[in-house]
Amino acid sequence: MSKISIQPVGFACGARVTGIDVSKPLSAADLEAINKAWAKHLVLVFPGQTLDPHSLVGFTRNFGELDDYATQPFNRHPEINEVFVLTNKYTNGKPSKTYNAGQNWHTDLSYTLRPAKGTSVYCMEKPSVGGDTMFANMYMAYDTLSPKMKEFLDGLEAVHDASLIEGLDKRGPEVANEFRRLNPPVVHPAVRVHPDTGRKALYVNERVRTFLGLSEAESRPIVKFLCEHSVQPRFTYRHYWSIGDLVMWDNRCMVHLAVGDYDPSEIRHMIRTSGMGDYYGRYLDPEAAAAQMKSAPAASAAKPAADAKAVAALHD
Ligand code: OGA
Ligand code: MN
Repeated sequence: MSKISIQPVGFACGARVTGIDVSKPLSAADLEAINKAWAKHLVLVFPGQTLDPHSLVGFTRNFGELDDYATQPFNRHPEINEVFVLTNKYTNGKPSKTYNAGQNWHTDLSYTLRPAKGTSVYCMEKPSVGGDTMFANMYMAYDTLSPKMKEFLDGLEAVHDASLIEGLDKRGPEVANEFRRLNPPVVHPAVRVHPDTGRKALYVNERVRTFLGLSEAESRPIVKFLCEHSVQPRFTYRHYWSIGDLVMWDNRCMVHLAVGDYDPSEIRHMIRTSGMGDYYGRYLDPEAAAAQMKSAPAASAAKPAADAKAVAALHD
């Protein structure tokens, strides 16, 4: 008999899932219960788990194929491309390339052709205080817009640009340039219909530069309004991490933020997987995108072996 139990922890989103060891094979009944809870609560917290990169992959594959992070191959696990190491640990005397990831409101990989479906993050080390993550419910953001604004946004397309990732340039010119080379601007609908719930969710975040058919000057205030509207406190849940938490969120109907509210001299170390998205966007300018991606990679990206060694050092 399954002992799985789901307790809501936020009104807008968020539930704790207990009575399950996610390192063990999952029964069909538990998988169904998790999928149902995920559709309802959007972000699930599985506290007190003991996972390693292999068991994280094992569990999260239950929810679909995993992304291999080819669009951001900077801090992948040395042996498993599907595991991304989110850390502020120094590696070979250099700051981590993911130390400031996620510090503006976003939804994962929206600057790629196939944005992530879900993302799962497992907390291995955390600062004594802070290092929280916030989530906002984009169904609520859409539902609370006026009918005219909904009409305007339905059918509108947005240009997502990796250059708008907060703090990208602080990761050094090689990483930033390579990130941009691999991720030319892409176009996605401003409103997405969730394939499981059939509900509409706003799909605009701080990495949107323009709307198709509108100038940048016209787009900017609308993007700003939508971003502010969608992250009102009443639409959010704030997660205070504990070591052993596995948190799994749905990128199709939420945005999230690494708050960055912690002492950077303390360690924050997480491993992460992302589910392959269930639809494709398109490049804003397919020819320019193809040419850009064919151009020479930045020196740092041309040495995967060295990178792998650097990541291995993270686990010392
Ligand atoms: C992510 C992310 C937030 C955090 O892993 O996609 O944005 O708080 N993480 O680390
Ligand atoms: Mn993220």
